[in-house]
Amino acid sequence: MFKTIIEPFRIKVVEQIRMTTPEQREEMIRAAGYNIFALHSDDVIIDLLTDSGTGAMSANQWGGVMRGDESYAGSPSYFHFRDSVQDITGFEYVIPTHQGRAAERILFSVMCGEGDVVPNNSHFDTTRANVEARGAIALDLPSTELADMDSDYPFKGDMDVEGLRAAFAEHGAARIPLVMLTVTNNSGGGQPVSMANVREVAAVCREFDTPLYLDACRIAENAYFIKQREPGYADTSVRTIVREMCGLTQGCTMSAKKDAIVNMGGFLATRDPELAREEKNLLILTEGFPTYGGLSGRDLEAIAIGMQEGIDEDYLHYRITSTRYVGQHLRDAGVPLLWPTGGHAIYLDAERFAAHLEPTQFPGVSVAIALYLLGGVRACEIGTLMFGRHDPDTGQESAGPRELVRLAIPRRVYTQSHMDYVIEVVVKAFEERDSLPAYRIVEQAPVLRHFSAKLEPVR
Ligand code: F0G
Repeated sequence: MFKTIIEPFRIKVVEQIRMTTPEQREEMIRAAGYNIFALHSDDVIIDLLTDSGTGAMSANQWGGVMRGDESYAGSPSYFHFRDSVQDITGFEYVIPTHQGRAAERILFSVMCGEGDVVPNNSHFDTTRANVEARGAIALDLPSTELADMDSDYPFKGDMDVEGLRAAFAEHGAARIPLVMLTVTNNSGGGQPVSMANVREVAAVCREFDTPLYLDACRIAENAYFIKQREPGYADTSVRTIVREMCGLTQGCTMSAKKDAIVNMGGFLATRDPELAREEKNLLILTEGFPTYGGLSGRDLEAIAIGMQEGIDEDYLHYRITSTRYVGQHLRDAGVPLLWPTGGHAIYLDAERFAAHLEPTQFPGVSVAIALYLLGGVRACEIGTLMFGRHDPDTGQESAGPRELVRLAIPRRVYTQSHMDYVIEVVVKAFEERDSLPAYRIVEQAPVLRHFSAKLEPVR
C-alpha cells in the first residue's frame, strides 16, 4: 500500500562511523598504494567491499551466542545447527566448517582428481582455486543472456544447459565427478538461477549419473527471486522453494557468512553416507571434530538461528527491494550497471562509466577510487586488476573479461539514508567521469595480485 519499504528491524546497538574529509582520504588512499584492500576499515564511511561476514546479527542470534555450548564432542549447539540446516535444506549429513572455502576444499579433495572437469554456472574465485588445487579444470558455463548488461532477462544466473551437454560429450562423464550451481551467481553479477534451470541441469546430471551440488551461499535470495519472477511460484513460500531446489541436488557447500547472516561459519551437506564419512575424516585432520568443525559452539548457535532468519520473507522483501532501489536510482541517473540488480550487490559497468580508459588503464580501479575520494565509499574492482594477466618477461598487461565495480551490501547494516548517500556519491563520480585518471601498477604479486598490488594514478 505504501511505497516506502522500511527496514524490518529496529536498531538496538550502534557502531560509530568515523567521518573523514576528501583531503584526509586523498592522503589515506595514497598511503594505501591506491589499493582499497590496504585501507583501514575505520577510514571508510560506507563499506561495500563485501556482504560476507559483515551482516548485523539479531538480538536472538546474540542470545544464542550466550547459550553456545563449547563441549568438544556432542555439543547441543551442534544439534541445533544440524537440525536447522536439515530443516531448511533436507540434506541428511551436515558437516560444519569455518567458512565456505573450507567446505569447498573438503568436497573437491574427496570428489575430484587430476584432469577432472567441474562445470559450474560461474565459479566463485575460492571455488575455482579449490578445484584447480586438485589439478582439475573449473569450467564456467554462464547463460548467454548474462552477456547483455541491459536486458530485463529475469534469470541471467542460469547455467548454459547446451554447454553442459557439450562438456559431457567432450570430456565424458567419467571425467566429470560433479556439477555445481552457484545460487545466486556471484561472479555472474549476483543474478538468480531459475527453478527450471536447476531442474534441467539436474536432468542432464541424472542422465550421466553425475551428482549435482549447490554453492548455496545466497540460496534464500535466489529463492525470493524465483518467487517474484518465475511463473507458478508467486504463492509458494521461500522455505518450500529452497527445499525444492535442494531436493533436485545431492548436496551443497555454504558460506554461512552470507544468507545465514553470521560473521563466521559454513558447512558442507550431502545425502551420501559414504561421502560424508570420507569428508568427516578430512574435517578432523584440518578443521576439527565433526560436531564443531573449526567453529565455536556459539557460532553454531548463531548459524542455527540465522539460517531461519535468512529465509524470512519480510526480511527478504526488504533485502531485495532495497538493493533494487539503489540500482533503479543509479539507472535513472544514467549510470551504466548490470541490470536487473542482483540480490546482494550492484555491479557498475566501469567500461562504459570510464569509457575514455582502456582496460589496461584499470577503469574499475579508477571508479572505485573516485567513490572513496568523493564520499568514503569502499567498493571492489572486478576487472583487469583482479582477472587480467601480467607478463613478467615483457611487462605487458592484458585485459580481464569484464570491467565491473561491485557495491556489495552488508545485511541489516545500512539504512536507506546511508544508501541515498551512496547513490549521490556514485552519481557525482559519474558526472565527473571524464576526469577519472588512468592507473598503473607499480608493484604486484604473481597470484591474486588485486589484494596486495600497489598502483598510482597516471596524471
Ligand atoms: N561461494 C561464493 C558464491 C561466494 O560468494 C563465496 C564468498 C564463497 C563461495 C566462499 O566463502 O568466503 O566463506 O570462504 N564470497 C565473498 C564475497 C568473499 O565477497 O563475495 P567464504
